[in-house]
Amino acid sequence: MPTASQIKALLSSHSAGDAERFHAVALQMAAAEARKGHQKLADEIRELVNKSRRNAQSGNIRQKVHSLAAPQGEAGELLEASESHLRLSDLVLEDSLRERVERIVQEQKNLSKLKERNLRPRQRLLFTGPPGCGKTITASALANELRLPLFVVRLDSLISRYLGESLSKLLLIFDAAEKHRAVYLFDEFDSIGYTRDASGDVGEMRRVLNAFLVFIEKMKSNSLIIAATNYGQRLDQALFRRFDDLVEFGLPETPQIRQTIKRLLRDVENEEFDWKKIEPAAKELSYAEITRATEEAIKEMIIHDLNMVTDKALVRALSERRMNLRL
Ligand SMILES: Nc1ncnc2c1ncn2[C@@H]1O[C@H](COP(=O)(O)OP(=O)(O)O)[C@@H](O)[C@H]1O
Ligand SMILES: [Mg+2]
Repeated sequence: MPTASQIKALLSSHSAGDAERFHAVALQMAAAEARKGHQKLADEIRELVNKSRRNAQSGNIRQKVHSLAAPQGEAGELLEASESHLRLSDLVLEDSLRERVERIVQEQKNLSKLKERNLRPRQRLLFTGPPGCGKTITASALANELRLPLFVVRLDSLISRYLGESLSKLLLIFDAAEKHRAVYLFDEFDSIGYTRDASGDVGEMRRVLNAFLVFIEKMKSNSLIIAATNYGQRLDQALFRRFDDLVEFGLPETPQIRQTIKRLLRDVENEEFDWKKIEPAAKELSYAEITRATEEAIKEMIIHDLNMVTDKALVRALSERRMNLRL
């Protein structure tokens, strides 16, 4: 049994956020247990400490980037860290899109081989396509495949929140991207890539865009920079050649509609669907909308204690989403 003073030491180091001391106390406890002949328990505690130390290390880079980008602790809006366990194989991607995304992973995984030959791996990417079609989730799966953290920078809120200072905030983020290899997703890229809008300080946005372009041209780190926008058509065409790859996401076609629904229903009892009824109901809906509608149909089944999802319920949920969107 641990002593009262050990428990107190554990709790006080935990509440102080002192991970090193927390681990040291836990290791003392392991040693004490080993002396009492409780070898198995001692080994288990040591293994848990090692695991916790490894996790703390991977969390460390996040903390560093955060404190760099937001000295006053305003990191929330500026640089949002997100973690995911999603694999690319969990996503429904049309074949040529999947090939493009997998090529990015392959090049990043073979960085040193490519660099030895003076070849630059794809690292500056532009993701375009309608909302809810997988830009963010793909960035997140890419980060996971490469075992890198993902940081999301919402350019629209960065600019509106730090009007007059957005350039200096962005420079802090670029600095972080040079120092800490990670995937940096600059979301709502059209808010700087599109400067014909009369609202706001256009001069400032120009400066921000120029700084962004200079940064991606000169960057030396192996970070992955992804600019994403729902409005690719609004971007200045001249911007496209500044990126190593332009990845276009689109609304799901018939095969992807089926795949999306089947994936979501894989653990749920369902009848043989009449896809001829379902597909027209899902036309023009995004992956996100189809996902929501399918989840609605599953909820219905659970609430009414039914034992399966029927195509009728699914068609109803899909039609409802189409109606809400005025499609
Ligand atoms: N290709 C996809 N495969 C599977 N689910 C998807 C796909 N695209 C979008 N989704 C679903 O829609 C949600 C929103 O997608 P997201 O990547 O955020 O869209 P956006 O293109 O607006 O960034 C995801 O969390 C996921 O549930
Ligand atoms: Mg998104």
